[in-house]
Parts: sequence; structure tokens; C-alpha cells
Amino acid sequence: MSIKPQVRVCVVDLSQKQIDAWNSDNLPIYEPGLPEVVADCVGKNLFFSTDIDAEIKRADIIFISVNTPTKTQGIGAGRAANIKNCELCARKIAEVSTTSKIVVEKSTVPVRTAEAVRRVLHCNDKGLSFEVLSNPEFLAEGTAMDDLMSPDRVLIGGAQSEAGLKAAETLAAVYANWIPRERILTTNLWSSELSKLVANAFLAQRVSSINSISALCEATGADVSEISRAVGMDDRIGKRFLQSSVGFGGSCFQKDILNLVYLCETYGLAECAEYWNQVVAMNDYQKKRFSEKMVGKMFNTVTGKKIAVLGYAFKKDTGDVRETPAMFVVRDLFAEGAEIHIYDPQVGREEMWHEMQYTCGMSPTTDAKLDTNVITSPDAYSACEGSHAIAVLTEWDEFKTVDFEKIYASMAKPAFIFDGRNILDYDKLRKIGFEVHAIGKPDPNTFDDL
Ligand code: UDX
Repeated sequence: MSIKPQVRVCVVDLSQKQIDAWNSDNLPIYEPGLPEVVADCVGKNLFFSTDIDAEIKRADIIFISVNTPTKTQGIGAGRAANIKNCELCARKIAEVSTTSKIVVEKSTVPVRTAEAVRRVLHCNDKGLSFEVLSNPEFLAEGTAMDDLMSPDRVLIGGAQSEAGLKAAETLAAVYANWIPRERILTTNLWSSELSKLVANAFLAQRVSSINSISALCEATGADVSEISRAVGMDDRIGKRFLQSSVGFGGSCFQKDILNLVYLCETYGLAECAEYWNQVVAMNDYQKKRFSEKMVGKMFNTVTGKKIAVLGYAFKKDTGDVRETPAMFVVRDLFAEGAEIHIYDPQVGREEMWHEMQYTCGMSPTTDAKLDTNVITSPDAYSACEGSHAIAVLTEWDEFKTVDFEKIYASMAKPAFIFDGRNILDYDKLRKIGFEVHAIGKPDPNTFDDL
């Protein structure tokens, strides 16, 4: 894929380090297919720069693509999204622009943020006009390039005025370079802003729904994969996002649901807020349930035991660890006194600690034991050697093909496997000698198959 040559794109950032990385052969994020696209376009019609003022002046359309993290303090702390960075962008655009612009909210924002952006932009006294559009991003990590090439839809929200509709059409024409027109939806601003939160809330709700059923399966002998299949074959329900797991993670789901919860509360809709809050509560329960099950099955103690964690990213094909369920399992096992050895093909120690500090307030600088008891391993075999248990916490394809006979031979006995992603071959593992526990799967020691 290459960006159409008639469109010139420049990505600007305050961080020289980030921009240097984007301009190098070593991109700052891991995303399959991305290096090829960047290599193909950079220096032709794709540029990375820290010269923010010059690029704002030059642009016709500006995408605000800054992060909007959950507030950690003040009003709405722990739920509301902090839109400080969006406002700062709007102020910068108003300050340096010398021509009229279309300003596009790409960041996920609470509904009615465009109103704030518009007011800040219109405070300029230079006689310029600014049209604000909402164009939320629906691509998922790991499949971002395919999602970008053939999205289910592109959503553009704008003011329903003549100028607003014209601006929406200008942006739609950019996407129409590679996306069929019927997949480009235009709505009013508030529907577009809210649709992004609702889409993520619905997706996460499906995962929490199936995860709630996984607990019931473990109690009854039903198999959650069989249920997902049976339920998902109903066209009205659909197959996707019914894969039970140790819990959902990532930078979007929890943040966006909490943002939705906060919006409902703000508008006095307590029942709606509580409804959506349960999706997050169920996810917390699922993560906790997993670590408690590990401890419970290992004779109620993991103190001093080596435990191998295979996979730390929040899903496969990404190095992203934001809100990764693995972090919460590791936190719980660490609290129980286990020695944890983590292997993930894309996650480095620095990112791991950074996220753990940000989300759990835990860091090796404040707790030296973390550094000695949470170890990062160069491969699956060294992580598992001498361990009492393996926890599979990310569904990397390579975990399906490791030599479990070799691993079993190197482990303490009984050797446990806890599969938090339901990707392994349990019959084969049990034949080798492992005691296997998976999410929502009947335990053959507890249930007889009739
Ligand atoms: C999500 C949305 O899918 C995307 O549209 C939006 O733009 C950003 O947020 P992303 O966070 O990259 O994308 O990943 P996604 O594939 O949605 O997975 C989120 C989490 O749910 C992961 O931890 C994943 O492992 C988990 N998940 C997903 C399940 O546990 N089961 C499933 O069936 C699907």
C-alpha cells in the first residue's frame, strides 16, 4: 500500500526521540506490514518532523491524534478521559495558523469535545475559519494495516451546516482514494464521537459476556469454545469477539468504557453507568479469577516457586503492554511470593516496568524484590526450565509449536499449564504428563464425559 501521491502527509511530534525513530529503520512500534509502508512512502509524500509550527501553517487538514488517557486525579479521576492534549493542540493551531483549516479529531474523546475544540479555535482573531470534524479510528493493533486498507467503515462527523458538510466531503474525498464510497459514513459530530466509545464498549462487552460464561463452564463441565461456536453461528450474534480469555487489555477498551460510564453519570444516567461498569468489573474478576485459580491448583501456595509466563503483550502481533492482563496476573503472583520468568517475543523489560509503574504503581526502584523476582527470559525454554507452572497469557502463534516434551522434562513435578488464551493442544499436553487448566474448559479430573 502507498499513500496516494497527491496527498502529502507529515506526522509531527514534540518528541525528537520518537521522530528520529520514525525516520530510522527501527520504527518505535511493532506492527506487521507497517515498516514496508513507511519505507515505501517516507521522503516522498510521508514525512516525520518536530517542526510543528511550520507543518501546521502548511497543512489544509490537521488530524489531532494525541493520547487522551483516563484522568488520574481531580474531577472524574479513574473514569473521565483527560482531553488536555486535544485542547493544547487546538490552541497551538489557533496560534500559528495563517490560513483556514479543517481540524479533525482522530483521538478518542468524550462526546462534545468538538465543541471545546471549536471554541478554542474560534478565539483566534485573525479572521480565519476552522471547521472541526470527528473521524474516530477503528483499526486494531496487530491487524492495523489490513484494517486501514479495507476498513468496515470510515466515520466522519461534522457540523450540519454548509461549511461543515463541505469539510466532511473534503475529508471523505481523501479516503475515497482507496475506500469505496458506501463505506464512508457521515453523521453529526456528536454521533461520531459517541460511536467510537460505543463500538469499543460493545466489543469489550462481548468478551466480558463470554468470560462470565467461562466461569460457569468451569463449574459445570460445559466447554466455552463449544458455546462460542454454537452461539456465534447465529447470524444475529456473529462469531467474532467470542474468544474467552484471561481478560481484555489494550489502551482502548477499559479507558473508553470508563469514559462512557463517566459520561452517563455526568448526564444523571446512573443505571446506564452501572450497566457499562459491569463490563469492566467482569474483566477485573476474570483476571483475578485466573491468578487465584493458579494459586489454588498449586496447593494454595506459589511462594518461592518458579512460574513461567509465556506472553506479556495484551494480544498477539503487538509489543503493546498497556492494560495487559498479564501484568495483573504477574502482580498477583508476585504478591504471593512467586519467582516469575516472562518471555514475550516483542516486549522488553523497560516497557514492562513503565506500564507496571503507571498502572499498578509498582516499580523496581521502589521495590527491589520486583527486579529479582520478575525476570525477563530470552526464550520460552529458559523461562520454563525448572518451573512449577507455565501461564500462557498472550496467544502468540509460536507458543503452539514449542517442544512441550522438552519443556516438561525440564520442569518441577507436577508440572502445571494454565492456558489463559485457550490455544494449546490439551490432549497432547496431558499425554506428556502436564496438569492442564484452561479458561472455561472442563477439568477431566472433576467431570466425567458421559
Ligand atoms: C480495539 C478495537 O478492536 C479497535 O476497533 C479500536 O480502534 C481500538 O481498540 P485493540 O485494542 O487493538 O483494538 O485490540 P482488540 O483486537 O480489540 O482486542 C482487545 C482485547 O480484547 C485484547 O486483549 C484481546 O486479546 C481481547 N479479546 C479480543 C479477547 O479476549 N477475546 C476476543 O474474542 C477478542
